[in-house]
Order: sequence, then structure tokens, then C-alpha cells
Amino acid sequence: MDIKSKINLEKLPRHIAVIMDGNGRWAKEQGMARVFGHRNGVKAVRETTEACTELGVQYLTLYAFSTENWNRPEAEVNALMALLVETIKNEIKTLNENGVRLRAIGDLNRLPDKSHKTLLKAIDDTKQNARMTLVLALNYSAKWEIVEAVRKLAAAAKSGEIEPSDIDEQAFSNALSTAGIPDPELLIRTSGESRISNFLLWQIAYSELYFTPVLWPDFRREHLYQAIVDFQNRERRFGKTSEQL
Ligand code: FPP
Repeated sequence: MDIKSKINLEKLPRHIAVIMDGNGRWAKEQGMARVFGHRNGVKAVRETTEACTELGVQYLTLYAFSTENWNRPEAEVNALMALLVETIKNEIKTLNENGVRLRAIGDLNRLPDKSHKTLLKAIDDTKQNARMTLVLALNYSAKWEIVEAVRKLAAAAKSGEIEPSDIDEQAFSNALSTAGIPDPELLIRTSGESRISNFLLWQIAYSELYFTPVLWPDFRREHLYQAIVDFQNRERRFGKTSEQL
């Protein structure tokens, strides 16, 4: 029985989030520069997006660039930004053909002008698509996002728009950059690291975490299917007992 046929399509995660990791190590294994790993990581992005769309997953969030990634060598940062612009431009047609809407979360205003403009255009050009939403986390960190949400709510309370007692979990979720997007049920991290690295800290409160040793450029649809099968074999109790489920 192949791995795909083990997936129960009635119980798919609605939202899968991925920490794409291991591009640099993959390149090093081949004796190549780190950027070669990022370029090959695009193949995995494409395949994962296609597979999620075909299965019927509604949201896929990819951690493409963290706030901390600015600390990398300048040449790598520039190459990543250029790759992003190039990939987004190249993929708009395919995204539209497959009904994929692009969204982005993160401090987008601080992206280089060209990357920012390309991103906003792609978001606008795909806004009519409804089959799946691909969310790119760019210049994103969860602590930044949480602080921004607190500022927004504090300003609303100060101006009298809301009462402090109006702030509940739903109001807080609505103040995050992921407003309107269901929390991910499944979070995948590649490359054998078992860390969250400042990604979606609020939203993953009840996510199932799946860590695989596969380096991101080697990640293929079968790896995604395996992660989903693993997810479907877990018991999600949300604080209840097994007997109560
Ligand atoms: C982590 O590997 C990967 C990144 C920081 C960037 C991910 C970017 C891409 C896959 C390319 C473009 C993406 C899109 C969505 C168009 P690492 O460099 O941290 O690897 P290492 O841990 O082995 O050094």
C-alpha cells in the first residue's frame, strides 16, 4: 500500500505550517555554496504546495525568512531576497492555474523595495483564488507579531474603541497577522532540528509537531504524505481524557 492511499481525506489538517530547514547543510554536503541549497529548496516549495493543493489542504504556511535571518552574511541575504522575487514572479501563473491564493505574514514594510512590490503584486494578482491559501512568513518572528498585536489592542483601548475586558483569546487572535486563518493542526520541521525558532508561537498552542531528518531541498510529496499519516494516527485530546473523545 503506497503512503498516499493511507491518508484519510476526511480528516486532513486544514492548515499545515512548515519550518523549511537544512538548505545550507544540503549544499555543504554537495560541496556547494549555501545559496545552491536555497535554489534547490524552491523545488521542495513547489512540490509541497502542489501536493497540499491536490489533497485539499486549505492553508499552507511556509517560514521563508525570519527576522533573525538578517544576521546572515549580506551576500546570502541578498541572494535569498532575489530568489524570492524570482520565484514569486515565475510562479504567479501556476498559482492562478491551480487556484492558489498568496498571502504573507511578517514585517513586510522592511523588506527591500523590489521584493515588497513583487510580493504585493502577487498577493493582489492571486486574491480571487479560493482552492488553497499559501502563506509566506517573511521577515517574520512570532515575538514581533505578538508585540504588534499588543500594541494594536493597547492603542484601541487607549482611544476608547474597546474596553480592556473585551480582550479575550479571539480578540487577540484577530489582532495577529494570521487573523482569519485557522491555527495549524500540523507543524513540520525538516533537517532534524527540534526547535520552533520563533514561529507562530500563539497559533501552535495545540498543533501536532512533526520533526523529520530530511533536509528541505530533499523534501518531496511522499515526505509530506508521511507527515500527514503520522498526524492522523495521533490522538488529539485538547486537555480531555481518551475516554471523553
Ligand atoms: C533554512 O535553511 C532555509 C531558509 C532560511 C530559507 C528558505 C528559503 C527557500 C526554500 C527559498 C525560497 C522560498 C520561497 C517560499 C519562494 P538554512 O539555510 O537555515 O539551512 P542550514 O540550517 O542547513 O544552514
